[in-house]
Amino acid sequence: MITIKNATQIEKMRRAGAMLHEVLTQLSKKVEPGVTTKELDRFAEKLIRSFGAVPSFLNYEGYPASICTSVDSQVVHGIPSQETVLREGQILSIDAGLILDGWQSDSALTVGVGAISEEAQRLIDVTQQSFFAALEVAREGNRISDIGHAVQQYVEARGFSAVRDLCGHGIGREMHEEPSVPNFGIPGHGVRLRKGMTICIEPMIAAGDYHVKTLRDGWTVVTRDGSLCSHYEHTILITDGEPELLSLPGYHKEETR
Ligand code: MF3
Ligand code: CO
Repeated sequence: MITIKNATQIEKMRRAGAMLHEVLTQLSKKVEPGVTTKELDRFAEKLIRSFGAVPSFLNYEGYPASICTSVDSQVVHGIPSQETVLREGQILSIDAGLILDGWQSDSALTVGVGAISEEAQRLIDVTQQSFFAALEVAREGNRISDIGHAVQQYVEARGFSAVRDLCGHGIGREMHEEPSVPNFGIPGHGVRLRKGMTICIEPMIAAGDYHVKTLRDGWTVVTRDGSLCSHYEHTILITDGEPELLSLPGYHKEETR
């Protein structure tokens, strides 16, 4: 079922989103060589709870941590560990989610550890830009597959590929609601976007091929070819105009002249 949120519910999701933005901002500042992903997880859990919210990932389908930390060729769902000591030149995707007053927010970003290669930085930039390309078509009246089409077009034109086995999703009281939001496909298909829908758009972009596999820990998804992968995600609200980025408060699209 696709849920349409009313003004009160949207305001709660806005608060959850603003809080999650603060969490991810503080987390990114902690990323440097020598830090373990377990330390980042502990920091995130404490911060989320100190804000009066609950980390939504913890125990979700048995997931053992409050955030996902995916290094280099890890696509998503990397499990924070005391053994994972970040090293200069790596890229780290941090995915986090929280529940505030019963309402969810989910967001992810990718950062470099210390100085990174030009190629890695370009992957991070293109991934983020593909999200904003998708945002252009995230409008009432368009269809779900217009989003994936925009992501795929954007990244493939730049020599990268969009992971196909994992998707974005609706969000609200539950972290994962309908509809599913793929990052590839032909335009003009699927559910029509409507004002009051809240969805997560989350391109997962590989420098090489789009095929992925899950490691034996049952969670960590990696690229099959071992190529670098970057992730960027926001919880957004469909309106009758520009979409609102609930997990990026204060964002306004630059006026185009
Ligand atoms: N945040 C992920 C998503 O975007 C889900 C995390 S799965 C969990 O859908 F198990 F880690 F919670
Ligand atoms: Co998500």
